[in-house]
Amino acid sequence: MKIASIVGARPQFIKLAPLSKEIRKFFEELVIHTGQHYDYEMNKQFFDELKIPEPDYNLDVGSGTHAEQTGKMMMRIEKILQKEEPELVVVFGDTNSTLAGALASVKLHIPVAHVEAGLRCFDKKVPEEINRILTDHCSDFLFCPTKTSVENLKKEGIKENIHLVGDIMVDTLKQNLKIAEQKSRILDKLKLEPGEYFLATIHRAENTDNYENLKNITEAFCEIKKIVLPLHPRTEKKLKEYKLFEKLCRNIKIIPPISYLDMLILEKNAKKILTDSGGIQKEAYILKVPCITLREKTEWVETVEDGWNILVGTLKEKIIKNANKFMPNIEDHKMRFGDGKTSERITKIIGGLR
Ligand code: UD1
Repeated sequence: MKIASIVGARPQFIKLAPLSKEIRKFFEELVIHTGQHYDYEMNKQFFDELKIPEPDYNLDVGSGTHAEQTGKMMMRIEKILQKEEPELVVVFGDTNSTLAGALASVKLHIPVAHVEAGLRCFDKKVPEEINRILTDHCSDFLFCPTKTSVENLKKEGIKENIHLVGDIMVDTLKQNLKIAEQKSRILDKLKLEPGEYFLATIHRAENTDNYENLKNITEAFCEIKKIVLPLHPRTEKKLKEYKLFEKLCRNIKIIPPISYLDMLILEKNAKKILTDSGGIQKEAYILKVPCITLREKTEWVETVEDGWNILVGTLKEKIIKNANKFMPNIEDHKMRFGDGKTSERITKIIGGLR
């Protein structure tokens, strides 16, 4: 069987790594990279570090408006699918690359498998939410990470082809944590002591593209101090545009986007994590690091239910207060994202296609 995996953005490379390894034990795999992320730090360093096979195609779509980006991707993906005729297309997560891959495939009557299906934040202004809903409703295999995601799909009337397989990011984390501990020099490089710094990330459009929100977050970060902030290019651009960059720079440690292994080490040793990323909320939970989420909603409700994650939105005082005070109950940790065998499960189920 020939399978085409479609990726384009940083979190998708992390999800592809363990699945690609497993799929290639049994099937032929073709990797199509849309080119949504293209900077070395956002792209190639993940392929190198996680030993992901070189993409067979890079569509070089780059940045643009949502319609431009998604449209270009669809046109280019369609051509490749027509040429290569895979029997299945695999898409990951909720980016524009996910939606473009799913739509282009389904219209050519090629079955689609969606890894990380059923996630919802119930806010259609969030671009990822539209991508998730549309991708789920045209997919033939819905690989869900959590019970909540299964329930979400059922509530939307999807009754078949739902598979609760666990979270594929647990596979990547488990396969790489020891390697990270051996290889990463990031703490020395940044002169950080374990447990003595906050790790922050911020990149969501709802925060970066809204002056008030970004200003509040910046001011809160400056007061919390001892923050390390690997900076997403989107955020850097907006901070400069809003003239907030200089202020932030003076008070906190801003570093370029870092590799997966370095990120695991920074996460594991942080006192607390402040983030608006979905993947980092989960990684914080798995690594048992308290997480303060700079959003009003989350798709990863289990992290909040167990008390390891708190949603604080973007109010300055609330961010500062929780950075100082928020503390989970160590006992309440049920490891609800799976056992690291998600790739095996997915591959077995896909194998049933034959
Ligand atoms: C995308 C995903 C988001 C995911 C995130 C992970 C969508 C709608 N969003 O957001 O779900 O959490 O990836 O990072 O698909 N840029 C660069 N270099 C790059 C990539 C981006 O400079 O390699 C800059 C460009 O200015 C670009 C901006 O970042 O305009 C936004 O990039 P884009 O791919 O549109 O969305 P992300 O914010 O990365």
